[in-house]
Amino acid sequence: MSNTDRSKQSIVILTGAGISKESGLDTFRDADGIWSKVRLEDVATPEGFERNPRMVQDFYNSRRHQLAESDILPNAGHEALARLEKEWPGDVLIVTQNIDNLHERAGSRNVLHMHGELLKVRCGRCSNQFQWVTDLHVEEACPACGETDGMRPHVVWFGEMPLEMDRIYATLERCALFMSIGTSGNVYPAAGFVSHVRQCADAHTIELNLEPSEGATFFAQALYGPATEVVPTYVEKILDAGW
Ligand code: APR
Repeated sequence: MSNTDRSKQSIVILTGAGISKESGLDTFRDADGIWSKVRLEDVATPEGFERNPRMVQDFYNSRRHQLAESDILPNAGHEALARLEKEWPGDVLIVTQNIDNLHERAGSRNVLHMHGELLKVRCGRCSNQFQWVTDLHVEEACPACGETDGMRPHVVWFGEMPLEMDRIYATLERCALFMSIGTSGNVYPAAGFVSHVRQCADAHTIELNLEPSEGATFFAQALYGPATEVVPTYVEKILDAGW
């Protein structure tokens, strides 16, 4: 890749829970992960919410509290991606499966939360969304329509459609570099992005993860190690000499 082409080279970065692990937030499927403590069927499905809305609200309320703790901060992996967006002359889009706000707090601006955002809630009755930093109660009245039975976390649950898929696929199809960071490759559609890129774009594909993901063989290249180490190293490399 020549330097003169850089402004036309867009980069798409898929991130998962692994990038936030060293900031103090648990992943899902590691041995000590969230799904070893609670059943995803209970807290991350529409059926679970219907069965026991209080349990689901409590789960997201406690994660919202945790995100506000003073020691939960963006790490060197998030910061390197923010630097990449600032210094790379072409477009850089982060598509994150994470519902935390650590990419934004590190300085990234072009972030798409395909699984929703912990600090937002929405009303299932009128579809309005609201910034929300405190607890959400089961019979919370919607600030817009006033209904008391529709408020829920703005989080995509299993069985629901991830957000902004048309925009994501359009961007994947014209990217020059696709990076996947800190995701186990268990959950679709995100796990299928690398195959989509390989079919539709003339792009380099790389996985940066602690260990090979489920889809490791689909990537042209891989760097294994903690995100706080491998992400800054790789960002430095591509700003210096491309991929
Ligand atoms: N640095 C890099 N990668 C790490 C680190 C680290 N410090 N720690 C763990 N990892 C890797 C793990 O090896 C694992 O491959 O991060 C990955 C995390 O995988 P998951 O826990 O499955 O998280 P993720 O892929 O983001 O899950 C996808 O599943 O339950 C849903 O909605 C939830 O968005 C989530 C989706």
